[in-house]
Amino acid sequence: MSKKDIIILGIESSCDDTSAAIIKNETILSNEIAGQKVHEAYGGVVPELASRAHQQNILPVVDTAIKNAKIELKDIDAIAFTRGPGLLGSLIVGTSFAKSLALGLDIPIIEVNHMHGHVLAHFIDELENDELKEKPSFPFICLTVSGGHTQIVLVRDYLDMEVVGTTKDDAAGEAFDKTAKLLGLPYPGGPLIDKYAKLGNPEKFKFTKPEMADFNYSFSGLKTNVLQFLQRETKKDKDFVENNLNDICASLQKTIIDILFDKLIKATRHFDIHEVAIAGGVSANSGIRQRLSEEGKKMKWKTYIPKFEYCTDNAAMIAITGRFHYLNGTFAEQNISPMARLKI
Ligand code: KG4
Ligand code: ZN
Repeated sequence: MSKKDIIILGIESSCDDTSAAIIKNETILSNEIAGQKVHEAYGGVVPELASRAHQQNILPVVDTAIKNAKIELKDIDAIAFTRGPGLLGSLIVGTSFAKSLALGLDIPIIEVNHMHGHVLAHFIDELENDELKEKPSFPFICLTVSGGHTQIVLVRDYLDMEVVGTTKDDAAGEAFDKTAKLLGLPYPGGPLIDKYAKLGNPEKFKFTKPEMADFNYSFSGLKTNVLQFLQRETKKDKDFVENNLNDICASLQKTIIDILFDKLIKATRHFDIHEVAIAGGVSANSGIRQRLSEEGKKMKWKTYIPKFEYCTDNAAMIAITGRFHYLNGTFAEQNISPMARLKI
């Protein structure tokens, strides 16, 4: 290992995934994730159960990340952890673990904003046809869409970013999950809507699109619209959902994507940006990926999508963000506490 190499342990515990990753410079050596099945029965994440599961998972996950990276504890230069935003009980587990391990190893800690992490996942080294995949150039716009967040972020530099648009109610992932629930699909319904949408006609049904100012979003009206639509249709045909599932999913998915892209396009025009990235769990959606590539051609954008495992919550994105703070010399104090509502 060369002297100049910087090794960082990243820890992520903001919601229902316990994750630990080791990064050497900008290359991920390991990225371990323990999900939590316990929430499935409840149709959503139960905060108290999440923090308990983090407590059980954190030690084995960190231990496996270190072993799989083929490094030793003494090789780690710093520990980066998610300070927020997220569920407080969940964040406490990762933060406390990072603090105590760093104290034991006598190395610095680095606080990371989870939303910075989603954006900076684009800077993890990835190979494409044996070559290093191109990374976005500054300034770029990142549409971060997950179960908890929907943000249009103007990224001027690694640690200089501004949220220029956000949702006023539900996140894009919730729009998928909550409408999926109305269709009787299990949680999380987003991937299932994606699956059925592939087989359906996206023009079959029309749903409402909100009128929102600037680059902001709203998805709660869509949920109500879908509920009323289903109540109306099932009165006429009790098997309406079953008989039309693919077309409903395709039409719903198209509506959500139209809403997302209307504002994304508006923001790129306003800020005169031609580098466009997407991030977050919902960016796994095949319709969103396809639309990004179509709009990219039309609008002459260069587009970027991280590898799937760096889209959903993961510690690799926390580790790469930690690296930029490390290079910048920004470290946290031992008395730091997590913040559920941390802003970008
Ligand atoms: O980023 P993520 O793993 O966790 C959060 O930070 O929330 O995102 C999870 C969200 C869920 O709402 C899930 O339904 C959605 O991402 N999702 C999808 C797809 N895969 C995951 N939504 C639509 N289509 C998909 N293929
Ligand atoms: Zn996330």
